[in-house]
Amino acid sequence: MCEYLTISETAKLLSKSTKTLRRWDDEGKLSAVREPMSNYRVYRKTEVMELFSDFVQTDAKEPVSNFVEPNHEYKVLELFAGAGGLAVGMEKAGLKCVALNEIDKFACATLRKNRPNWNVLEGDIKDFNFSEYYDKVDVVTGGFPCQAFSYAGKKLGLADARGTLFYEFARVVKEVNPPICIGENVRGLLSHDNGKTLQGMISILDEIGYKVVPVEVLKAIHYKVPQKRERLILVGIRKDINLEYEYPKPHKKIYNLKDALKKGELFDKDVPKSDGAKYPKSKIDVLDLVPPKGYWRDLPLEIQKSFMGGSFHLGGGKTGIARRIGWDEPCLTLTCSPAQKQTERCHPDETRPFTVREYARIQTFPDDWKFEGSVAQQYKQIGNAVPVNLGKEVGYSIVKFLNNYYSLSNPK
Ligand SMILES: C[S@@+](CC[C@H](N)C(=O)[O-])C[C@H]1O[C@@H](n2cnc3c(N)ncnc32)[C@H](O)[C@@H]1O
Repeated sequence: MCEYLTISETAKLLSKSTKTLRRWDDEGKLSAVREPMSNYRVYRKTEVMELFSDFVQTDAKEPVSNFVEPNHEYKVLELFAGAGGLAVGMEKAGLKCVALNEIDKFACATLRKNRPNWNVLEGDIKDFNFSEYYDKVDVVTGGFPCQAFSYAGKKLGLADARGTLFYEFARVVKEVNPPICIGENVRGLLSHDNGKTLQGMISILDEIGYKVVPVEVLKAIHYKVPQKRERLILVGIRKDINLEYEYPKPHKKIYNLKDALKKGELFDKDVPKSDGAKYPKSKIDVLDLVPPKGYWRDLPLEIQKSFMGGSFHLGGGKTGIARRIGWDEPCLTLTCSPAQKQTERCHPDETRPFTVREYARIQTFPDDWKFEGSVAQQYKQIGNAVPVNLGKEVGYSIVKFLNNYYSLSNPK
């Protein structure tokens, strides 16, 4: 097998432009070498594969499957439910949502509109007591917003975290006593307060009787999501259960924007028309100059300077600014507002943000999942969500764990 790749082969493999590769070479990110025989500039195949394994598009026939059928009806209590990304994923994996808590009235309206039978508990989690679910729920899940703890310089216990939303998550887990609990969060939790916040969470779960599985950050692109989003997963197993939990195995096939918006493997028709935000004229004039897969560095120098303002001199790639997504790459992480400054994700062919339904597709919500509230509220709900397909794969991992658990113990 040839150990080198030409520049155009590398660009194709990584879905990057040759211009980007040249810049990476300048920045030392991926250096070209001279092929000994021809003296052409080429890349070492091993370096390309290692460094960018995430972005490599493979046509591998899909050998990985996390699918598993539940042996019993497993029940989920979903906290911080938002518009239901994780809940829909769990449902698709065969779990039953017995109750969902959420403070935002528009997100609650979304949940009720789509699932009139779900028990949506609207309001601040602090005001709810869940002890009626003691020993009646198989898994408590929740994407608690991340907040720092104040430390008294010792191992953190539940009482020390009072006032934070993680405290509420742990308090509910303790009240409900499920075999397994799953928290989800952003990658930033790993480094939040130099890692002390995560350590505090692990020690609190330990105190309330849950052993935390080594934390992993799952990349959505490995779970049938056409978006480079990441989610940190915190899994706690009740200490009386001596069973391993396995994260869902990553899939090899990586889906791209075309898979999200056009008829294909992920969806059986093109994305439906819907409302969407618009860019102001000044932004349209700038983004018109950016090609698909390009970003602010593709602009003429003077426009780069005026568009970037103070950030121009700050260094770093900032590759998410003035970004136009290409059809053949996964989308960059969607934010809660497509109008947010310096996180533009422009449509490949038209100079506009993705519409609400396009946003939902990129998060792998089904087309019939409706969102309530203003267009801005809808974007917010979608941007906040765990991608449905990622939720589904995590759901399978829970089903697998619970099947093992109940096959070893007497089902409740
Ligand atoms: C990251 S989002 C969760 C997204 C959700 N897991 C999904 O997949 O769609 C966090 C949610 O926590 C909710 N939240 C924040 N504070 C809350 C509180 N005190 N009580 C209940 N929900 C709260 C927010 O409104 C937001 O919808």
